[in-house]
Amino acid sequence: MPDLAILDKAVEALIQCHQAHGSLVVLTGAGVSKESGIPTFRDAQTGLWANYKAEDLATREGFLSNPAMVWNWYDFRRNTVWQAQPNLAHQALAQLETLFPAFTLITQNIDNLHQRAGSQTVLELHGNIFRYKCLDHNHPVSLDLLADAEASPPHCPVCNAWVRPDVVWFGEMLPPQVLDRAFSAAQQASVMLIVGTSGVVHPAASLPQLAKEAGATVIEINPEMSALTPFVVDHFLQGPAAAVLPALQSALTLRLGTMEASHA
Ligand code: OAD
Repeated sequence: MPDLAILDKAVEALIQCHQAHGSLVVLTGAGVSKESGIPTFRDAQTGLWANYKAEDLATREGFLSNPAMVWNWYDFRRNTVWQAQPNLAHQALAQLETLFPAFTLITQNIDNLHQRAGSQTVLELHGNIFRYKCLDHNHPVSLDLLADAEASPPHCPVCNAWVRPDVVWFGEMLPPQVLDRAFSAAQQASVMLIVGTSGVVHPAASLPQLAKEAGATVIEINPEMSALTPFVVDHFLQGPAAAVLPALQSALTLRLGTMEASHA
């Protein structure tokens, strides 16, 4: 559990945000899905990039040099994620959304677990592993409609290019409309909550800085300090997201309930 005095300060910041009808913006990374059994990227022993080469699997060049291997790797990851369940952290974030009329959830994750936990609006900076598009023209592709859906990889029905997962690979631009919405949410945030990200991949990692410069209070949840902790974070709640987020959310709900009762 995090330090209770810091938890209290974080709750206080959220209460002020709520009372002022301010905007709560959340940025999540791989750590939020850790307790669902999905490996992070940079964990020294179990992280994906400790065991696989990012440049072979998550770049356009890697796909072009071995499309079957990359396709099969994403197939494997998709199956892992499909079998996983949202954890208490995803659920607490879905609950938080119901408490704040102005709420934005921005994620770097491609695993769909926020949506499966009930989050209504999710800005997916790095795409979604359950969507597909073609390599050459970004035509959206539905695998169900493909004659060669079992191929590794199949082909686009419009232009015959290879089909690839609709995720952002290294060296690629983030979806511009999603990024615009994320930047504008960060600039308008009263509180920014960062959960389970190492804060080293940009532009996602710039969002907390932007929020801070625009006057937001920044709260972070992570078992370890991230690259962002020393520079932008006001309240660092140390611990796993699946323990800390439910504690934060229930303390907040309790305080809001007490305040409502005393005004009744
Ligand atoms: P990382 O693997 O870089 O960082 C995961 C973070 O989660 C670390 O700071 C861990 O300390 C933290 N963590 C571990 N267990 C946790 C837990 N139980 N609760 C909360 N936090 C925990 O993952 P990201 O920061 O998401 O991009 O990585 C950013 C991007 O780099 C990914 O979206 C991916 C990757 O390359 C692309 O594929 C484009």
